Amino acid sequence: MCDFDRQYNQLMGLVNDYLYNLLVQMERYPVIIYDSIEYSLFAGGKRLRPIILLSTHSLLEGNIEESMPLAGGLEMIHTYSLIHDDLPAMDNDDYRRGIPTNHKKFGEGIAILAGDALLNLAYETMLENALLYQDRLVRHIGAINTIAQAAGIRGMIGGQVVDLENEGKRVTDVTLKYIHDHKTGSLFMASILAGISLEDPPEYISRALQEYGRSLGLAFQVVDDILDVTGNYKELGKITGRDRDKGKATYVDKYGLDGSRSIVKELYERAVDQLAIFGSRGKFLGELASFIINRHN
Ligand code: IPE
Ligand code: IPE
Ligand code: MG
Ligand code: MG
Ligand code: MG
Repeated sequence: MCDFDRQYNQLMGLVNDYLYNLLVQMERYPVIIYDSIEYSLFAGGKRLRPIILLSTHSLLEGNIEESMPLAGGLEMIHTYSLIHDDLPAMDNDDYRRGIPTNHKKFGEGIAILAGDALLNLAYETMLENALLYQDRLVRHIGAINTIAQAAGIRGMIGGQVVDLENEGKRVTDVTLKYIHDHKTGSLFMASILAGISLEDPPEYISRALQEYGRSLGLAFQVVDDILDVTGNYKELGKITGRDRDKGKATYVDKYGLDGSRSIVKELYERAVDQLAIFGSRGKFLGELASFIINRHN
């Protein structure tokens, strides 16, 4: 196993343990909502957003024990967004993370509530953690605020709205970029901004990390569009070809496969260029960017 795999697996293990321990401590009533939350939360997500949050925080010399609840919170928000994204009223998908979608297993009502529950649990978790750091409370509130904004109307929700509104329509380059930057890019940006809020680095470092996050977030979603065309269920854990069925606004539809691949390459290069100022300490984030653009799942 190479250094990157070892570090990635170690961070993923920490995130999984954190989430598991958090849920195991809760009184399991009503049972079905816990079953439904755990079904989606532990279905084998890649944990990219929490891993970026923790590694950015660590790069800024923060203590990842302090940011773990923010990382866990961000993963809960991401999981809620997937449960709702898959609902019949949205993308109407039957498989996610290699198993039937939450509403297929538990019904739409419980799936909606599991999403709502995860969203609330994320903020409970992050705020309770903030209260443990009285001397750094303002920084924690700042970090939670960046996550709230990224998940909200000016972020992920805004992107999801424009995504839905444009099904079956031709979109401009600007609208397409808005959709991708917001529905997906925003949570990637939040994973960078949370670490920045906690450690308050010099402006040039903050700017470089934000540009890394912005480029990587967009590249991630363009790759998601590509994989919907070139990927397969076995690797992705979700049915492919769905964007085309639904007339979704995608980079593949707008720029073709080759065009999309060269956009990904440009975004990847822009992302890794930002890491030069960190020297060898930026290696993990650089390899993570490469992992993200070369992934098959
Ligand atoms: C899938 O995100 C949803 C998009 C934003 C395209 P991921 O590919 O990170 O999903 P998991 O968490 O690994 O399942
Ligand atoms: C997902 O975009 C964005 C969010 C869930 C916020 P997609 O709809 O393209 O994601 P997949 O392809 O269903 O994973
Ligand atoms: Mg969608
Ligand atoms: Mg979808
Ligand atoms: Mg997709």
